[in-house]
Amino acid sequence: MTSDLTAESKGEAHIQIAPSILAADFANLGRQVSEVTAAGADLIHVDVMDGRFVPNISFGEVVVDAVRQYTHLPLNIHLMIEEPGNLMSSFLKAATDQVIVHAEACTHLHRTVFQVKEQGGQVGVALNPGTPIAAVEEVLPFLDLVLVMTVNPGFGGQSFIPGALDKVRRLSGIIRANGYAAQVEVDGGVKADQTAQDSVRAGATILVAGTAIYNREEPVPAAMEKMRACVRGLGVAKC
Ligand code: DX5
Ligand code: ZN
Repeated sequence: MTSDLTAESKGEAHIQIAPSILAADFANLGRQVSEVTAAGADLIHVDVMDGRFVPNISFGEVVVDAVRQYTHLPLNIHLMIEEPGNLMSSFLKAATDQVIVHAEACTHLHRTVFQVKEQGGQVGVALNPGTPIAAVEEVLPFLDLVLVMTVNPGFGGQSFIPGALDKVRRLSGIIRANGYAAQVEVDGGVKADQTAQDSVRAGATILVAGTAIYNREEPVPAAMEKMRACVRGLGVAKC
């Protein structure tokens, strides 16, 4: 793993890069997962879509299991599915797995959060751009991460919604002020430019990147290095 010692020695949080395999070449998925792993990714972001919660179907359990064969990294599993509690155990298979459910998709969010914890996984809650922070506040003390959607979920390659940065800033403030452990993750339209930089300055410590990492313009290791370099030294100091 590429570690930013300078930033970390200043007390800044390590910024984790989570390539989203939604943008990968699915005919060569194993190789694409190995490539980002070798290039210093921190997590593998896995987008599961059911065609109901979002207007698109991606892949399910068998593909997630196949991905595990090609990496030792934790899977950052983004469940864009209705009532994810019903399918939780199909996706949660390793103690390092991070399972992210949408606040909008869970009638009983508190129960679902504890379901993941009781099964030994790390748990995150995702918020759509139109969903207020209040939707997650009651479970915030129990979370490992909050995923702030910076696009409306369902597709890769969309443009970053700048207004979402204020939510990242306010959410990070609440987490820091209360001494909670949750990390803030951003997902959607994050590139090696101002979108990544502003997200990190606002308090995000996990950056999901699909098309910024898997694209035809550059090899995966070059794209990973560009992302890492662009946020170097920008992390908000830990308190
Ligand atoms: C969107 C997904 C994202 C997507 C990001 O619904 O949750 O994870 O793969 O792709 P980019 O980085 O291309 O916006
Ligand atoms: Zn995602």
